[in-house]
Amino acid sequence: MSLQEILAVVAPGSPEEGLARQVDFDRLPQHVAVIMDGNGRWAAQRHLPRVEGHRAGIESVRDVVEGSARLGIKVLTLYAFSVENWKRPPSEVSTLMALLKRYLRLELNTLLGNNIRFNVIGGRDELAPDIRGELKMAEEKTAGNGGMLFNIALNYGGRAEIVEAARRAMAAGVTPDALDEQRFSEFLYTSGQPDPDLLIRTSGEMRVSNFLLWQIAYAEIWVTDTLWPDFRKRHLLDAILAYQKRDRRYGGINQPAAAGR
Ligand code: IPE
Ligand code: IPE
Ligand code: MG
Repeated sequence: MSLQEILAVVAPGSPEEGLARQVDFDRLPQHVAVIMDGNGRWAAQRHLPRVEGHRAGIESVRDVVEGSARLGIKVLTLYAFSVENWKRPPSEVSTLMALLKRYLRLELNTLLGNNIRFNVIGGRDELAPDIRGELKMAEEKTAGNGGMLFNIALNYGGRAEIVEAARRAMAAGVTPDALDEQRFSEFLYTSGQPDPDLLIRTSGEMRVSNFLLWQIAYAEIWVTDTLWPDFRKRHLLDAILAYQKRDRRYGGINQPAAAGR
């Protein structure tokens, strides 16, 4: 996974090629998390029903999954459905679930071909049995893949995840003395994964909407006005280039020699 891998899927002489050549492959974000937002507005702009925005957003998912894997991103997390999204009309919810099922059916071979491991984060119990089955099958079939880890956040809520982790820690018999941040994080859905370095949100909203609350403590946030169905590899490259210009201090101060890192 490298410059050559990404150049193989962008048109020669295209803006994407120019952007890809600027990326510092030694300083890629290990984990990129994305709040995919703006599908409804994309559809409204075209006088289409909201679900058409979700349908169009699938193409963005394909493009970003492929682009991330080729760049060499270790973990990609896409926020597909929040615990709060159940408030939407039942017909919109069921279309979202049907689209997810279709995506998995159509893309499983691409995930396998790109050595991508698929993983669901979120509460599964509330999902319909057919969806749970489909997710489990995709996880099992890709379990042996050693390339990019692709987390899909489904029926996900950051606060719910933290409460669930606390419950699991108690059930595992972790004593108050033994509990620290490292130990606690082992009970989160993302146990063993690096925290997101880069958090992308599309459609211009400046909020985190209950996404990965624990894990984004020091993530660099990049918001674009681009609506999710319009988001492509070039936007991902824009985000990575912006990330590489950030000065990550983690509360400390950087020495001049380390400036820009
Ligand atoms: C994001 O697009 C998709 C999901 C939250 C499932 P929205 O459906 O939130 O689109 P807007 O924000 O209404 O434009
Ligand atoms: C966040 O988008 C959830 C997902 C992308 C799945 P929303 O559209 O649900 O968030 P709010 O309501 O604008 O905060
Ligand atoms: Mg939205």
